[in-house]
Amino acid sequence: MTRMLIFTGKGGVGKTSVAAAHARNSSNEGKKTLIVSTDMAHNLNDIFNLRIGKSIQEVSDNLYALEIDPNYIMQEDFADMKQAFTKKIESFGIPMGNIGQLSMFPGMDELFSLLKLMEIHASGEYDRIIVDCAPTGETLALLKFPELLAWYMEKFFPIGKVAMRILAPISKTFFKIQLPDNNAMTDIEKLYLKLIELQDFLKDRQTTSIRIVTMPEKMVVEETKRNFMYMHLYDYHVDGIYINRILPKYMDNPFFNEWIAIQNQYIEELEAVFEGIPIYKIPWFDTDLNGLSGVDRIEQNALKGRDVFGVHEELFSQCFEKVETGYNLLLKLPFIEKGELSLHESGTDIILKIGNFKRCIPKPNSLRNYVVSGARLSEGILTVNFMEGEIRQ
Ligand SMILES: Nc1ncnc2c1ncn2[C@@H]1O[C@H](COP(=O)(O)OP(=O)(O)OP(=O)(O)O)[C@@H](O)[C@H]1O
Ligand SMILES: [Mg+2]
Repeated sequence: MTRMLIFTGKGGVGKTSVAAAHARNSSNEGKKTLIVSTDMAHNLNDIFNLRIGKSIQEVSDNLYALEIDPNYIMQEDFADMKQAFTKKIESFGIPMGNIGQLSMFPGMDELFSLLKLMEIHASGEYDRIIVDCAPTGETLALLKFPELLAWYMEKFFPIGKVAMRILAPISKTFFKIQLPDNNAMTDIEKLYLKLIELQDFLKDRQTTSIRIVTMPEKMVVEETKRNFMYMHLYDYHVDGIYINRILPKYMDNPFFNEWIAIQNQYIEELEAVFEGIPIYKIPWFDTDLNGLSGVDRIEQNALKGRDVFGVHEELFSQCFEKVETGYNLLLKLPFIEKGELSLHESGTDIILKIGNFKRCIPKPNSLRNYVVSGARLSEGILTVNFMEGEIRQ
């Protein structure tokens, strides 16, 4: 099965270099590998010293590259879907005369980039897909979008019972829903299905991993913890942390020795807070990593000989469990304080809010007659209790 690794992290920490090192590691193993950039400020060209374009291009043995242009794929690959969206929007009296306009809706670019990734994955053409993302904020927007959109569509576009049946559960694979006949569905119902499929694809632990690149310094470490927590909020599977730009152990220089001590402190902190998750350490090299030879230094130093594409199913982020009083929903939400989190129940959803991020978790069908009876945040795990009853209005 095709594995997909998505690299995220703060701006300039080394995402593109580390992603490219994985692509080299993988193709060296003889696996057919595709490296994809979803960052509009594409940097793959510099590393591979090629003009990587809108369509997939071979860069070396077993290694292919693609820079996604959402506008282009919207027209080339997803014309039907674009039309369905456009029709729906026009039905609200908003004229959508020309093609470019859809991409003006927030999140559309991200959505089509993800749909393209899912399509490439489904083709089975590659053993591994490595995704180089834009800095954290944009990546989060990318990853939370399919779920948000599915939720909004459900709320604002009234649809038939068929789609409701598909949408209500958290995951169709988990609840083994029978899908209706493709021909019997409307365009909008097909869209819903695609969104559900997309969420399943991005959250399937066998397939998709999120990897966070960081550096041993205060601001970056703080941002890494936030990023990690948000990934958990949306139930993404983070199974690798890369600490980049580590200074050599000793330097005969008091200025640098000071910095080495500071770095050590943050490396220790990262090791403590991400215990149990594979950590990769990358030295600070003496020159910029221009081109493939630089990327190969990362590969040799930090990746070679390690099982970098392994699946780590044991790292859970969200699950339901049956208990005597009803059910519990367990959500790993590390690095937040109680006051930052708000939780409420609305109809068939549990709504969690942390800062500007909001996640609506639909209650599975089997919990239709249950209500939230309590919640507790302890040691980075949020436990939401459900018992039989009706929501009090
Ligand atoms: N370990 C390292 N040693 C020396 N230079 C490095 C190291 N890691 C990255 N660099 C250099 O730092 C710069 C930024 O790296 P890179 O482009 O991989 O970061 P990025 O996270 O993808 O940045 P952006 O957020 O802008 O996309 C590049 O010039 C790269 O060559
Ligand atoms: Mg980059």
